[in-house]
Amino acid sequence: MNKNETLHTNTENIRKNGKELENKLVNIKGWVWNKRSSGKIRFLILRDGKGFIQCVIDNPELFSIFDECTQESTCEIEGILKEDKRSPLGFEILTKTIKLIHKTIDYPITPKEHGTDFLLDHRHLWIRSRKQFAILRIRHSVKHYIREYLNQEGFIEFDSPIFTPSACEGTTTLFEVDYFGEKMYLSQSGQLYQEAGALSFKKVYCFGPTFRAEKSKTRRHLIEFWMVEPEVAFATLEDIIDISQKMISYVIQKVLENNTYELILLERNVEDLRKIVPPFYRITYSEAVDIIKQKGISFNFGDDFGAPEETAISENFDKPVIITHYPKNIKPFYMKIDPQNPEFVLNMDIIAPEGYGEIVGGSQREDDYQTLLNRMKEENIPIEDYQWYLDLRKYGSVPHSGFGLGIERFVAWICKLEHVRETIPFPRMLYRYKP
Ligand code: 4AD
Ligand code: MG
Repeated sequence: MNKNETLHTNTENIRKNGKELENKLVNIKGWVWNKRSSGKIRFLILRDGKGFIQCVIDNPELFSIFDECTQESTCEIEGILKEDKRSPLGFEILTKTIKLIHKTIDYPITPKEHGTDFLLDHRHLWIRSRKQFAILRIRHSVKHYIREYLNQEGFIEFDSPIFTPSACEGTTTLFEVDYFGEKMYLSQSGQLYQEAGALSFKKVYCFGPTFRAEKSKTRRHLIEFWMVEPEVAFATLEDIIDISQKMISYVIQKVLENNTYELILLERNVEDLRKIVPPFYRITYSEAVDIIKQKGISFNFGDDFGAPEETAISENFDKPVIITHYPKNIKPFYMKIDPQNPEFVLNMDIIAPEGYGEIVGGSQREDDYQTLLNRMKEENIPIEDYQWYLDLRKYGSVPHSGFGLGIERFVAWICKLEHVRETIPFPRMLYRYKP
């Protein structure tokens, strides 16, 4: 190769193979993220979709084009790649030429602080910011490593439908849609269909958007959120507790290994994440109630935990805590009754540390036809809509279990964010559905 030949590259490549490109002429295309001047030097920070790189400009002949390159203008830069130990990327460019491709005028998001409402109104542009870039790349990795883990473990991805004729997680949070004159709902959970899949393929999962008309406006709730839902035949509650903690720690360790750049941009304390290896802590619902009461929080045994209770519980633990055996009255019809203690069910919730609340909900499923039917009748569930689901207990029934992990809460915890709204490209919330 000719010594002076320009290498068309990007910041991801520089991050991985920077040493090989050092002192070579490189070409990068991107957008002006920020710029500043200091004495006789100008600095232009370019974002190229893969990362951020500082371009140093010391040639006064380039100053006029530098001035033209306003924030978010599109441009192409050529220069010599130099090591820069202070930058998260490890390299900078000593600029030789700048080509302006598109000049941006009056970009609305300036480097000053903006309020959340303003930023959410401009979400289509806000996703270009450094923090959002880091978060959404980690989201991508989380989804990738979840699939990688489950596929390695012999699961197949088995898609549940989004249009569903009946509820999975109770009727209060259903979104109704008109389906050619019939009443249908947007899926709250793909679980019931996964149970059919597990009896056909043994280990399955679905991974997609789910919808809940949640009236609660909290920093943990979205109206549209993504869930991965593994379901396994011939599996007990203990088996899925095992799978869920291994999956969570696999994903976190992979993110630590492969998303160091993003975690640096987010200034995340990675030591807290390194600890996340099985076994997680285990307590029962009753023990969790004791913890809450010891902290002086008033709570009625038998009620469900809300965000304040979950936060209080999680403060006692530096790793996730798995809470099992909740009262059956606060849990859905499909959960298997604990044979030892019929007022409780064989379920588990995983509460993340650092106050991120419940990230996983799962259970062993009721596999006895008559018990399930009785429970559905007790809860006034329209049996005719669930005949197909009951069939699964008539033909080749087997103990089976599964769980759902909410991607946004998981990502919010990994990135240590205040609110889940930043973990999804275009969040849907109680009062926010645009753009
Ligand atoms: O506990 P949930 O409601 O469980 C189910 O839906 C089961 N059918 C899953 C299964 O067993 N296959 O929801 C599971 C997880 C929660 O732990 C939480 O992480 C997330 O989904 N989640 C939400 N995330 C964001 N916004 C919301 N409104 C959420 N509701 C649940
Ligand atoms: Mg739950």
